[in-house]
Amino acid sequence: GKVAVLLGGDSAEREVSLRSGAAVLHALQAQGINAHGFDPARQSLTELVAERFDRAFIVLHGRGGEDGAMQGALQYLNIPYTGSGVLGCALAMDKVRTKQVWQAAGLPVAPSVVVRRGAMAVDAESLLAELGGKVMVKPAQEGSSIGMSSASTAVQLQAALELAHQYDAEALVESWLSGAEYTVAILGDEALPSIRLQTTHEFYDYDAKYQAVDTQYHCPAGLTPFAEQALQHLALSAFRALDGRGWGRIDVMCDSDGNFRLLEANMVPGMTAKSLVPMAARARGMSFEQLVLRILELSEL
Ligand code: DAL
Ligand code: MG
Repeated sequence: GKVAVLLGGDSAEREVSLRSGAAVLHALQAQGINAHGFDPARQSLTELVAERFDRAFIVLHGRGGEDGAMQGALQYLNIPYTGSGVLGCALAMDKVRTKQVWQAAGLPVAPSVVVRRGAMAVDAESLLAELGGKVMVKPAQEGSSIGMSSASTAVQLQAALELAHQYDAEALVESWLSGAEYTVAILGDEALPSIRLQTTHEFYDYDAKYQAVDTQYHCPAGLTPFAEQALQHLALSAFRALDGRGWGRIDVMCDSDGNFRLLEANMVPGMTAKSLVPMAARARGMSFEQLVLRILELSEL
């Protein structure tokens, strides 16, 4: 069959998606698959039907590609696609609703408060006090740490809210989580070995993700077998609670007492040279090409 690799799009993560998409396209073509790049920001979806594509490999990050909109459109066009469906993507793109689902499922998350753009003047002092003095502020719907910043004074919190509100009407103000950051790739029904991220930045921000040469990745992560199993189990539960399908990646913090707190879910995680799902797959003995093929095989209508 003919596979459309959807890449680019017009979200804030367009550049990342172009890199992820190029890597996926190349890997499919190298394995003899009739794959073509398709940028929905430049091309109309009706071309997918006109040119008789049988399947779509979604490598779009962020809004319009990872939030259920594209998934719904493809479903309507009867074109099977990789990864999670409308519900899973829509939930995972929204950090506020993601947390609500996880909380309802009894899964561990950090305390947080939602602040809407234009809400009556926020009492920054008491919000900070309520959340432990230091917070992370995030736009509800973004990826790659875009629009995120920390705050430990009222002035910083106002600035952080302003920044987050440039990207979304809702900002999530979360208690600061110190400790180590881990990420767990999900492939089909299993969790791949976790990766520990070590950055010299205050947190694993956009630059640490895609630019910095001093970001370190540890896989195996160095956890005890018991903790590794607990982390993988937590990630799978978190993925399933959001109705995740096919593949994805769950980000988790671990404090110095060994307590895990879920951060967020990525239903179309990065597939660039520096990306984490390919790294975890490699630790499992799976090449990038094999990983891409497996994700494609897991796509069903
Ligand atoms: N949002 C980026 C692409 C990631 O999760 O890898
Ligand atoms: Mg993300």
